[in-house]
Amino acid sequence: MIVATTISEVRAQVRAWRQEGLTIGLVPTMGYLHEGHASLIDAAVAQCDRVVASDFVNPTQFGPNEDLASYPRDFEHDRQLLEEHGCAMMFYPSVDEMYPDGGGKTDTYVEILNDMPKQLCGKTRPIHFRGVCTVVSKLFNIVTPDKAFFGQKDAQQLAIIRRMVRDLSYGIEIVGCPIVREADGLAKSSRNTYLSAEERQAALILSQSIFLGEKLVAEGEKDARRVVAAMTEKIQSEPLARIDYVSAVDGVTMEPVEQISGTVLVAMAVYIGKTRLIDNFIVEG
Ligand code: PAJ
Repeated sequence: MIVATTISEVRAQVRAWRQEGLTIGLVPTMGYLHEGHASLIDAAVAQCDRVVASDFVNPTQFGPNEDLASYPRDFEHDRQLLEEHGCAMMFYPSVDEMYPDGGGKTDTYVEILNDMPKQLCGKTRPIHFRGVCTVVSKLFNIVTPDKAFFGQKDAQQLAIIRRMVRDLSYGIEIVGCPIVREADGLAKSSRNTYLSAEERQAALILSQSIFLGEKLVAEGEKDARRVVAAMTEKIQSEPLARIDYVSAVDGVTMEPVEQISGTVLVAMAVYIGKTRLIDNFIVEG
């Protein structure tokens, strides 16, 4: 596996692959890789001739009081995981390589101006999706992939990227991949490492409430407010949990819905101690 740290190295290699007629898949990540990330690599390897994974903790998607400085990193572990899963290139740029103005800042952003980035996580993370769209656009321009792979774990991010690709006419197929969970249900996340043993146990309340919501919908509940209320009550039974939001929204627009009809995303963000965790399920229309 090639480890590239500069944009020009990536471009040169991609050009060579293109000359051989090979297809290219991109898996953007912020590193500290786990089996959720690995599932995206596996999907990309199955569907594309060469897979590029980016490993970059993107400063522009973190708010001033968020965990940019403490975000976990482990280059050697990431390199090995990517190699084992058949990734052809790891793109591991410095902040200055990605943001040449220095200090992880930029004057040029890609931003969706409708309400999509303002819903759900956008309420507590107002600049988050602007940073995500900007860095993902840059990665699309650097790697020029045929397909790019994103997890359903970050359902709002996936919906926003799909919208950006449509609006900016990127000729890139976006592939969504299912949530990978620990054996006990907790959705895998790089941020799970912040949890103490007691908090790790308490964090199960997220997936338990997701499974409860799924069960209610499977049993025929159509009133989104009742589903959200039952899930909320479940989470509130855990003393270490503090709800940021539990919401049912349209799966494409992210607008709140009252009825479970069409494609609906039921999503939550919950603080366990100081750690903010997210989880969700989709009801396909
Ligand atoms: P990161 O949180 O590292 O996630 C990278 C990709 O892995 C995302 O598409 C995310 O949805 C997916 N992923 C994370 N946990 C998963 C799980 N348990 N199951 C399945 N997929 C999972 O998301 C980002 O980084 C960044 O915002 C990024 C898109 C790289 C832009 O900086």
